[in-house]
Amino acid sequence: MNLHLTINGQAKDIPIEPGEILLDVLRRAGYQGVKRGCESGTCGSCVVLVDGAPYYSCLLFAAQQGGRSIMTIEGLGTPDNPHPIMTAFIEEGAIQCGYCVPGMILSTKALLDENRDPSPEQAKEALDGHLCRCTGYVKQIKAVLRAAELLRARVGG
Ligand code: FES
Ligand code: FES
Repeated sequence: MNLHLTINGQAKDIPIEPGEILLDVLRRAGYQGVKRGCESGTCGSCVVLVDGAPYYSCLLFAAQQGGRSIMTIEGLGTPDNPHPIMTAFIEEGAIQCGYCVPGMILSTKALLDENRDPSPEQAKEALDGHLCRCTGYVKQIKAVLRAAELLRARVGG
C-alpha cells in the first residue's frame, strides 16, 4: 500500500508494509534525524510532530498517518540556516552526543508554538518524555527558555 502524507511541507507518496511503524518509514525515506531508541515509547528519541503535536513515531502505525502533516528535524532548519531553537540548544551547550536532541527540539517547537513565554516548569514538562544519557537536563531546560527569548525577539515581542 502507499502512504500519502506531507513531510516537512512536501507532499509524499511512500510505499509501506502493513504494520510498519512511522519511525521505520521515515528513516527509510531518508529522514535520519528521526532516531531509533527504545522502540517502546520511553526514550523520546523518535519524536516527530504530527499536525503540530509531538508523538513517539515508534508507537504510530504508518498506515494510520495518511493525510497528516509530519515534521522531522530536517524540516526545521539546517546547519547553514538553523532555527532559533537549534541556535539556543547550541548556545546553551545542551548538546553532547546529540542523539536525544532532534526529539527534544521538536517537543520544544510544539511548546513554543503554543506558549512563547514558558516558565521553567513548563519547559521541564515539555521535555518530560525525553531521556538523555549524557546531560543532567539543566542545560536543555535553559535552552528551551533561551529559544523562547530568541523567538520573542524575532517577532518583536
Ligand atoms: S524509540 Fe520511540 S520512544 Fe524510544
Ligand atoms: S546529548 Fe547524548 S543522549 Fe542526550
